[in-house]
Amino acid sequence: MTLPQDLLDPKHYAGTRRPVEEASTLPPWAYYSPRFYEAERERIFLRAWNFVGHGGRIPNSGDYAAFDLAGVPLILVRGRDGKPRAFANSCRHRGAEMVQGEGRCNGFACPYHGWAYGLDGALRGAPGMERTADFDKADWGLKPIRLETMGAYMFVNFDPDAAPLSDWLGDLPELLAPYALDDTVLVRRTEYDVACNWKVYVENFMDYYHTPTVHKTTLAATDLSAYHQNPPDTWIGKGEYLTLYAEHKGSAALLRGATGFPEMKTLTGPSAVGSTYVCAFPNALMAHTKDCLWYVEIHPTGPATMRLGVGAVFPRETAERPDFEEVVQQYYERWDVSVDEDNRINEQQQRGVSSPLAEAGRVSVMETASHLHRNWVLDRVVGN
Ligand code: FES
Ligand SMILES: [Fe+2]
Repeated sequence: MTLPQDLLDPKHYAGTRRPVEEASTLPPWAYYSPRFYEAERERIFLRAWNFVGHGGRIPNSGDYAAFDLAGVPLILVRGRDGKPRAFANSCRHRGAEMVQGEGRCNGFACPYHGWAYGLDGALRGAPGMERTADFDKADWGLKPIRLETMGAYMFVNFDPDAAPLSDWLGDLPELLAPYALDDTVLVRRTEYDVACNWKVYVENFMDYYHTPTVHKTTLAATDLSAYHQNPPDTWIGKGEYLTLYAEHKGSAALLRGATGFPEMKTLTGPSAVGSTYVCAFPNALMAHTKDCLWYVEIHPTGPATMRLGVGAVFPRETAERPDFEEVVQQYYERWDVSVDEDNRINEQQQRGVSSPLAEAGRVSVMETASHLHRNWVLDRVVGN
């Protein structure tokens, strides 16, 4: 099918704009068109507060993680002062990417002509530049990217003029206060390349319609099946996020029959009797159950590809138990199984929706959160 010339005209999205009971999904091209993706990069990812995971990714001074977020190579690094920072992963000389992957270092040396930068991004050495006129190293540090935190969770923003993270998140920190994010430990982080559009993944995470089918023998066998009889509340919070909450027995992070850790002592009210799932727009997916948290970082790498980071987060007190390593295996099993199931269905969804015969479909009320995310994307990418 030839895509319309005026692909970003709001008229193509009228079906998605209707209330959920009357709505359709996005047109299929929103999941594979390079033009739609370019508009998302420009209008969403280059302006929003993007989630880059728990500070435990870079626990010690000199620890770094280099990766690509929506086409921007960046470095996260913990400084000598213990603070996490982010820099553009582009040398200030001729722009070479400085570093790849993760590790620990005392600074960054560009592999091309050897410019050397400190953990604070300052240019420390530029061999061969002595006769270059008006060249002051102080002007040529790595370009800083704004990094702000909610508890241990880190967010970056590529727009120097963006309002602070606290404005973006609104009352989300209050909602999550019972989970004492500051006092949590990232105990494991796994990464996957998934051949699907980033929205496919977000929509899947916030859709409990698929739990009894995709996770038939795994999660549907746990108390999560209660969602089906007792649909969660879905709402847009007073900030750039939406949440799903459902009451249930036990922990949502265990398979049936598994016995895990005691519940967190800090939980009160709804957090003590259920789980809260949050999508902080655009790309943070966070789950909070009674004994632990987990999260999903979604980093688009193209119109139909993404990198997934999955973090397992426990209260410090739990992570320090002598039986932690033994008992936590049951949680890892649950996450490994469900992530694998979701990755596979998301890739299948991507293949089908990329067909020239694919058309927008209709929506169940059990997908309300996914519907709200689509509309949030449309607000920014095409407007009304
Ligand atoms: S591009 Fe980095 S030193 Fe030349
Ligand atoms: Fe799932």
